[in-house]
Amino acid sequence: MNARTDVAIVGAGPAGLLLSHLLHLNGVESVVLESRSREYVESRVRAGVLEHPTAELLREVGLGERMDREGLVHAGISLRFDGADHRIGFDELLGKTITVYGQQEVVKDLVAARLRDGGQVEFEVADTAVHDIGDDAPWVSYVDAQGEGRRLDCAVVAGCDGFHGVTRGAVPSARLRVFDRRYPFAWLGILAKARPLHEELVYARHARGFALCSMRSPQITRLYLQVGADETVEQWPDDRVWEELTARLAVDGRGTVNVGDVLDKGVTAMRSFVAVPLRHGRLFLAGDAAHIVPPTGAKGMNLAIADVSLLARALTALLRTGRADLADSYSDTALRRVWRAEHFSWFMTSMLHSTGDEFDEQLALSQLRYIAGSTAAATSLAENYVGLPFA
Ligand code: FAD
Ligand code: DHB
Repeated sequence: MNARTDVAIVGAGPAGLLLSHLLHLNGVESVVLESRSREYVESRVRAGVLEHPTAELLREVGLGERMDREGLVHAGISLRFDGADHRIGFDELLGKTITVYGQQEVVKDLVAARLRDGGQVEFEVADTAVHDIGDDAPWVSYVDAQGEGRRLDCAVVAGCDGFHGVTRGAVPSARLRVFDRRYPFAWLGILAKARPLHEELVYARHARGFALCSMRSPQITRLYLQVGADETVEQWPDDRVWEELTARLAVDGRGTVNVGDVLDKGVTAMRSFVAVPLRHGRLFLAGDAAHIVPPTGAKGMNLAIADVSLLARALTALLRTGRADLADSYSDTALRRVWRAEHFSWFMTSMLHSTGDEFDEQLALSQLRYIAGSTAAATSLAENYVGLPFA
């Protein structure tokens, strides 16, 4: 069966859902195709930090109500090293804040808004494929949840299907330039029913490796541990997790971590990756489909949201008035912000993780001490962490 829409959006993560919502506000129709179930995307535990401009945008477009009620506004973070905490105060340095609000909560709010507004989001589709992106009449084929083959004709395809999606692969490899960096470690993410050790996030550099204490509420903590690149969850039974967190987050030899029931545990690979350009004919890539960062700077979801705020404006101009300049400049404009976040994420990752290399260790400690002692250095970190302006 055939159908038609203005923008065929592949992927119902933060990028695809927000793009669909923004286009709707601008009077542009879209259909979102998602391979997973609604329950799955709404419960996938991932990122948790919303930058200042991200929270502002969500409020502006009518998605801030629950975030403002349930999200935790933080005015700073702490860097823990040399056995002490060094606070970076976003409030006093910049007059800005971040909001701790889980990615799956953002996704729930987006799905609810799309369905309330009559938006079309098709879950549990299979075999998605993108066709004729070099022509004026691209289309997407897929098998719907009932097992029926479908064809969706459109003016534009938005590839918002994450790093392992199919849209990036629709671009001829000779036309795609890829920048890729792997790291010799990964993150073990833990969600636990326990009080966070501090009211703000604590990023710790320790000889045994990096540790991070974040949260989802005053009763639920989100913790991360640097582990080996090839390690699996099975190698990290709960007792070992708590022992390691206690050691890496100790101050003056005293444990600071509150132990509780583990609710979720998973390993996330660490990689920096950018595929350019973000536009190929009638296909526009956004979010993880085009670029990923190691999570140390808390940038992944924020970048996805920044991309689609630009893309929604560009596609609205293109499809409603025929104005092509914003669509033509989308890739270059978005990539300037992407590369800033790539640098910041690499910088935070290198400064906070241990590789066992003694020279790197001294460089990292020197950088941390400089940030702790210099308002200029702390302000630079703060400015990047709370997020640079979108446009
Ligand atoms: P995604 O959220 O990946 O959404 C893409 C969607 O497309 C998915 O729902 C997927 O099911 C769907 N899809 C894929 N293929 C197809 C297809 N062929 N057809 C239809 N649909 C398809 N960032 C942080 O800042 N901090 C973190 O702690 C953190 N943890 C993470 C943990 C994991 C396991 C992962 C994978 C990422 C993590 N990130 C983290 C990164 C952050 O979550 C992402 O940057 C963010 O989700 C990007 O949003 P997106 O919409 O671009 O992509
Ligand atoms: C969280 C994730 C991050 O990658 C980060 O840098 C800070 C917090 C979180 O999930 O809360």
